[in-house]
Amino acid sequence: MTPAAIDAEAINIAARTLQSGGLVAFPTETVYGLGANALDEEAVKRIFAAKGRPASDPIIVHLHHPRQLPIVALDVPPVATTLIQHFWPGPLTLVLRRTPQVPAAVSAGMDTVAVRMPAHPIAQALIKSADCPVAAPSANRFARPSATTAAHVLEDLAGQVDVILDGGPAIIGLESTILDLTRPQPVVLRPGGVPLEDLRAFIPDLEVITKYLQPDETGILAPGMLVKHYSPRAQLLLYEGSSHQIMLTTIHQRAQDLIAANKRVGLLLPDSEIPQFAHLPVATFSLGADLEAISHNLFHGLRTLDSLGVDVILTHTYPAHGLGAALRDRLIRAAEGHLISC
Ligand code: TXA
Ligand code: MG
Repeated sequence: MTPAAIDAEAINIAARTLQSGGLVAFPTETVYGLGANALDEEAVKRIFAAKGRPASDPIIVHLHHPRQLPIVALDVPPVATTLIQHFWPGPLTLVLRRTPQVPAAVSAGMDTVAVRMPAHPIAQALIKSADCPVAAPSANRFARPSATTAAHVLEDLAGQVDVILDGGPAIIGLESTILDLTRPQPVVLRPGGVPLEDLRAFIPDLEVITKYLQPDETGILAPGMLVKHYSPRAQLLLYEGSSHQIMLTTIHQRAQDLIAANKRVGLLLPDSEIPQFAHLPVATFSLGADLEAISHNLFHGLRTLDSLGVDVILTHTYPAHGLGAALRDRLIRAAEGHLISC
């Protein structure tokens, strides 16, 4: 189906699956989600099993309307109400105090809950029809690039999910911005679809967590901030340069060295940069022309180059303005925290 032509019967089947404790993958405007009834602890546990996700990593709860908020959240501060008015439905997740109705497993035992109202018509129709809050992480195997199409979901989760609603590609292609409102000061835990600049219009002293946790560090402070995330199977080499041309020259040299060492090389670059590499025996994925297109295509690009069997993927960062902050965050984590300066 498409967002403009929703298949009511398919929504019905998926909603009944959620109500009976099953798992449903569905499109949102950010990425595909792997959903379960958020109030059904057994169903939520199936999400962790299906993804191979550690129980210490909490899950976002999705609503079809802000009026569902009291079911899942307590002591909602005034700033949350303001942000909800401006940014919902949309890619902003708020961390609030959790009601006892939400099983502890959803929030990895913490007394908070992350909540958002997706803007995608199929996600809204599903949650409305199921008539319950829907817990849904991204619909990929743990630590893999997020799923932005139904085919990606099938690639990672075939046999683990009861229903997949295919609504075409996700729109933004990167996950929601996560804002924690349970601390003395509002803190962004993950940059995402709502630019930080837009939040600063409401919260001038906004803090942003820039630290990435190594696998042996505790996840209590900022669960889900593990440095290895969104990773392709191939090794990702991520370049950041003092100038654009220096970056491209360095990538070109590295590609030649890798080819000489018999490595299969993939390039993940904007459209305009691909022709400079046309004479090299490499696999290329064109990300598009602007930040919107590059964000939309990033995870698909990582998965496509993986499927071509490359050993190494060469790519570069983007300035951290607007969607660029989220793009840069995902690239750094896909590269397991290694940024090569040139
Ligand atoms: O755009 C999105 O947010 C997508 C779509 C499906 O809505 N979902 C998504 O979920 O990206 P997931 O599970 O891949 O990432 C959720 C992040 C994790 O890093 C998790 O640690 C964090 O949200 N999180 C969830 N609940 C939290 C809580 N109570 N406190 C702090 N962080 C939380
Ligand atoms: Mg995820």
